[in-house]
Amino acid sequence: PASTTRPAHGGPAVGGVSLAEIAERFDTPVYVLDEGEVRERCRTYRDAFPEADVLYAAKAFLSRAMVRWVAEEGLGLDVCSAGEMELAVTAGFPPDRIVLHGNAKSPHDLEAALRLGVGRIVIDSPSEIARIAAAVRPRGRQKVMVRVVPGVSAGGHDKIRTGTDDQKFGLSLTDGGAQHAISRVLGQSRLELTGLHCHIGSQISDVKPYLVALRRMVGLMARVRDAHGVVLAELDMGGGHGIAYRPGEPALDLTTLARRMRAELAEGCAAAGLAVPRLAVEPGRAIVGPAGIALYRVLAVKHTGETVFVAVDGGMSDNPRPALYGVRYAPHLIGRRSTAGPRTATVVGRHCEAGDILAADVELPGDIHPGDLLAVPVAGAYQLSMASGYNLVGRPAVIAVHDGTARMLVRRETLEDVRNRDIGG
Ligand code: LLP
Repeated sequence: PASTTRPAHGGPAVGGVSLAEIAERFDTPVYVLDEGEVRERCRTYRDAFPEADVLYAAKAFLSRAMVRWVAEEGLGLDVCSAGEMELAVTAGFPPDRIVLHGNAKSPHDLEAALRLGVGRIVIDSPSEIARIAAAVRPRGRQKVMVRVVPGVSAGGHDKIRTGTDDQKFGLSLTDGGAQHAISRVLGQSRLELTGLHCHIGSQISDVKPYLVALRRMVGLMARVRDAHGVVLAELDMGGGHGIAYRPGEPALDLTTLARRMRAELAEGCAAAGLAVPRLAVEPGRAIVGPAGIALYRVLAVKHTGETVFVAVDGGMSDNPRPALYGVRYAPHLIGRRSTAGPRTATVVGRHCEAGDILAADVELPGDIHPGDLLAVPVAGAYQLSMASGYNLVGRPAVIAVHDGTARMLVRRETLEDVRNRDIGG
């Protein structure tokens, strides 16, 4: 995680900047991104997969600065909406390094993809094939991939498992849907099928399901060659690489994953007499999750029966993950030293429902009180990108820290922003 050091002016720091100072200067709740950590993680991926394309999954978190960092570190980008595409391209991301996903691409999404010239569109359902082909300009040709469901169950929670036929994404390997779609795509002169894609789930800490999926994908590539005489050049194995949200939790070992995937690919291709396709991976969480920290101010402390509730100035509108997936975080006190012994407390948000819990039953100093600051590590992925406007609480600002300086990347949503969107009607 974003490495915390102790700077000269005291208190935990990230990127050489004191977290308490950030809270004072930019107000709370606020999200802090360690630019060095993001870049380092991008480089670790490039080093682990030198022969592959590494595409950052923009859904985890996107901002113009993030786009620049990822571009400069040599990664591609996985997007799934016109919004993500426009932000990326207007921030200077090369469109040919962008891949568009989505199980229900809107006319706006497809229009933006073709206008901006994104590198690949990933076909997710049969009805898309003719739609995309019809949208390609005369004499144009769009590179596409087909998303396959390999029948592998993996992922940290039911809601983020996408490798089996009981969920909405992709085309089934088991019932022949993928094979059928592939032959239809091959029959479209406006579409160029570059390869196959699969994404089996998210927050996966085990290498095994990736290897099983990879073998099945290679098997399908061999069948495509046999049936159509076409050798597909690309295999995108998606993302889903798991990280630890609390000390001691398992995380996917990247070096092991890269080594075993490479070996499995070489072996599978040799057995099938296939040329080794160019591999791609699409990590989101593993690039940005550990590089982010959320800072909150304590607004109220209440003892109810056996429970101590510590209520902060954010909550499920900036982090819906505990409510959605039962994820457990490890908040801690910053900004002052406490000599009080630890006490079990439940950190809750400010929203109007009982399920607005950020961290149940965590150890915090016994003297925690209103005005204190709490930091929640590993907050960089799928928090701000899933933030809502619940209770018309404006979304937090995003601050980047690097080499001892802090700068704002995304400003806080103000009361004025909230008011102005509603035009009265
Ligand atoms: N590629 C595709 C096609 C995806 O659908 C996803 C994530 C990724 C790559 C990146 O997965 P990652 O490496 O970040 O695990 N909101 C949930 C996670 C949803 C993931 C959706 N797809 C959460 O907060 O855990």
